[in-house]
Amino acid sequence: MCGIIGITKGSGPDDGVQSVLDVLVEGLARLEYRGYDSAGLAMVGPTAADGMWRVRAANGTRSLDDLTKRTDDAPTHPSAGIGHTRWATHGRPNEDNAHPHADCTGRLALVHNGIIENHIELSDELIADGHHLESETDTEVLAHLIEAHLAAAPAEGVVGAVRSALSRVRGAFALAVVHADDPDAIVAARRVSPLIMGVNEGAAFLASDIPAILGLTHDFFILDDDRIAELRPGAISVTDLEGNPVEPEPLHVDWDLDAARKDGYDDFMSKEVHEQPKAVADTLLDRVLPDGTLVLDEVHITNEEFRSITKVFVVACGSSYHAGLMAKYAIEHWARLPVEIDIASEFRYRNPVVDEQTLIIGVSQSGETVDTFQAIREAKSLGAKVLVISNVVDSSMAREADAVLYTRAGPEIGVASTKTHLAQITALEILALYLAQARGTLSPADARGLLTAMGSLPDKVETAVSRSVDVHAVAEHYKDSPSFIFLGRHVGYPVALEGALKLKEISYLRAEGFPAGELKHGPIALVEPGTVVVGVATRTPVWEKMIANIAEVKSRGASIVLVANDGDEETARHADHVLWVPATEHLFAPIIDVVPLQLFAYSLARLHGLDVDRPRNLAKTVTVE
Ligand code: M6R
Repeated sequence: MCGIIGITKGSGPDDGVQSVLDVLVEGLARLEYRGYDSAGLAMVGPTAADGMWRVRAANGTRSLDDLTKRTDDAPTHPSAGIGHTRWATHGRPNEDNAHPHADCTGRLALVHNGIIENHIELSDELIADGHHLESETDTEVLAHLIEAHLAAAPAEGVVGAVRSALSRVRGAFALAVVHADDPDAIVAARRVSPLIMGVNEGAAFLASDIPAILGLTHDFFILDDDRIAELRPGAISVTDLEGNPVEPEPLHVDWDLDAARKDGYDDFMSKEVHEQPKAVADTLLDRVLPDGTLVLDEVHITNEEFRSITKVFVVACGSSYHAGLMAKYAIEHWARLPVEIDIASEFRYRNPVVDEQTLIIGVSQSGETVDTFQAIREAKSLGAKVLVISNVVDSSMAREADAVLYTRAGPEIGVASTKTHLAQITALEILALYLAQARGTLSPADARGLLTAMGSLPDKVETAVSRSVDVHAVAEHYKDSPSFIFLGRHVGYPVALEGALKLKEISYLRAEGFPAGELKHGPIALVEPGTVVVGVATRTPVWEKMIANIAEVKSRGASIVLVANDGDEETARHADHVLWVPATEHLFAPIIDVVPLQLFAYSLARLHGLDVDRPRNLAKTVTVE
């Protein structure tokens, strides 16, 4: 949550193309998916009388526009600057609480992503020492702590002051500091919250995420936990908390800037939905050999180790959790291993039974979700093997894990997961078959048949995506419906959960997903004439039971929308409206069946005039517990 960015290019002549201000504003626009309650930036260096210049705005998704209208008195050729887009944790989203925060001298500015857990104790101390704190945030104490240490040991500079300040701090942080007394430098530090850096001949950059500084450099580095970096034009030096020099880890990035732009679509969500066939195809690429065997070169867990596994846990949040739930069916069916699936924030606090024979699969698009990250860390410390499914190369989770299986969906900017969700299910299905292959629980002939069927998934996803106009026409019928129930059975159940999540997330309509068989145990009391029930009724071994559950709600007056396989008129008879999808092997069906539900949510959100890329109260990457 929250996005930070920084650039230093020194006080030489401005090339006018990549001015500090341009880089900050464009970077913040690309980071907005991490939170958009408020935005702010600070710059130092020539001139604005060579002090620290700062502007902040708290106007929701319009904050960044507001900022750019208030730069008349900014330094004309700033040497360095930092910016922040906020998802509020401590303190309301107003200007006082917006970052950057300043110290008492007004010469230091600081941006932060994370939570300072002992901020109350620290702020009491600072106030007693005469500091004046202006905000309700946990962050502001950092600015004043650094100020205090700088005053006590000016010869150690800002880096030394940041190091001393951090020795007092508990919690998670990615932070960046500029100071008017050293206007060519940015000092950054990290613990848990992500921070990447980049350098070119005349500048150095930092950001919470790669897309924010894509196009500025090809040389990226990861700042590891408990490291402090000093960025100067063309150079980055990193030390540990004791001040010992450390080589920063280079980061290979093969995304280009186009991949992070809208390419003519109205919004990122629709662009990303249309990129789903490619996301699935790329995730399959090179992993299925022509002879029908699977190779996962990047999974550094041996077949022998896979054979020794007795239990699998999947830990994840949100849409990634739903992908994990789909995988449970596949792994249990093909690899004959018991699978438990856990919401990551619950897993680590319930003393799970995990040992060396347990495989933990962490599923996370960003690879930075703090709950999932801490859950896999906990499992690893208990001796489990950890495999991560992530869309971001070298993400924190990828680096923590014993093995990684990357989804290859490219950067996803829309807050609602779409293409990364499909890529996750694909990767998990591949993993399920790989486990089955390693454990000998599936005959080579059956495996070959399944892998051939997998090869046709991108085309089928393409077909499902191409029906967006038909789905929109169905959505128009339900534009005024206030609430929706989503039902599914077997693998249709997680699809129903995901359909409900998409709808509530971007259209703010009440939507609940249930296993259809559970209906009679309570949820059916919600059904009355006019209730909209969306059912996943593609052909699975439990199709008949699903149809019986649909009959139960229909007879109580519900309006029925069913996801059905092309040409399945028998299913269509039970529906008021049908969302058609191509048929596939039933354990692969979620990859296709979820597409019309994404489109349904998208259409309803657009019909309600909502911003699908930046839904209220949400952030793309959740880096606070
Ligand atoms: O980056 P992650 O996959 O770990 O994110 C997990 C959830 O925050 C995420 O899936 C969230 O639920 C999406 N906004 C749903 O569309």
